[in-house]
Amino acid sequence: IIDSISKADRIYIYAAGTSYHAGLVGKTMLEHYTGIPTEVGLASEAGYHFPMMSKNPFFIFLTQSGETADSRVVLKEVNKRNIPSLTITNVEGSTLSREADYTMLLEAGPEIAVASTKAYTAQIAVQAVLAKALGEALNKAEAKDWNLKHDLAIAAEGMQQLVDSKESLKEIADKYLIKSRNAFYIGRGIDYAVALEGALKLKEVSYIQTEGFAAAELKHGTISLIEKDTPVIALINDPATADLTRGNIQEVVSRGANVVTIAGKDFAREGDNVVLPEINYYMSALLTVVPAQLLAYYASKDKGLDVDKPRNLAKSVTVE
Ligand code: M6R
Repeated sequence: IIDSISKADRIYIYAAGTSYHAGLVGKTMLEHYTGIPTEVGLASEAGYHFPMMSKNPFFIFLTQSGETADSRVVLKEVNKRNIPSLTITNVEGSTLSREADYTMLLEAGPEIAVASTKAYTAQIAVQAVLAKALGEALNKAEAKDWNLKHDLAIAAEGMQQLVDSKESLKEIADKYLIKSRNAFYIGRGIDYAVALEGALKLKEVSYIQTEGFAAAELKHGTISLIEKDTPVIALINDPATADLTRGNIQEVVSRGANVVTIAGKDFAREGDNVVLPEINYYMSALLTVVPAQLLAYYASKDKGLDVDKPRNLAKSVTVE
């Protein structure tokens, strides 16, 4: 796999839904640790409007089930053009695994609930392993100096700490979310990718209409939707923009929003609702997503809904 990808001048990641959101995180890791420009796209948009290719492209498909029809259409096009490809999936022998040149398995164990959670986490971890191995093969100092095992151990420990304090998230869900018709997630950088995933989790299982926004984009239009008691969940882990996101929080607070802050230890301020253990920025999604998943879980459960089987959804989407 490494031999094949290291010849690429550009990596193209295609996926749908939660897997697409994991791809957005993977892009930042791959670009940082390997230096290979990486694009991420929605499979459903690429199948019939195939992206313009670099000279030596390499395609990665992220898919929990390995059966998603939208991703299969893109892979068929990729195979027609003889472009090398890798499927990262949780299901050995699945269609996308069989039809791609290479497979990496998530090894997350069966994921039964419709809402993808552990597959998302595993997709990020496996992309980290790929970025590390590829970066080392390409002699990139960033990859050679990266103690990934250490970072994964920190992530595992941090996730456990967050799960152990889950009662505080139930309180937040009960206080701010369950009676609300809408909600927002905001963040910048990797936090923006997690904001999209946090919003998808919350809306799909609680039916609270939730949008994920790049924090600064709110003021370009959407801030007009903020009114008294609108829940806004702010993610703050990006060293380059943490202070700017604090500014965006002030903008919504002054319009009456109920803000819930989830901040990395290095950026935390007094009064933050959740403080995440310290972790490498590129791995931060592994921790930030946990409170987001738990908020969705409690918002759904405490509304009396079926968390595992939200209405209108199937676990594997095999139609286009
Ligand atoms: O099996 P896949 O990862 O290819 O599925 C793609 C999406 O349908 C899936 O990630 C979906 O968004 C999640 N189940 C939502 O939680």
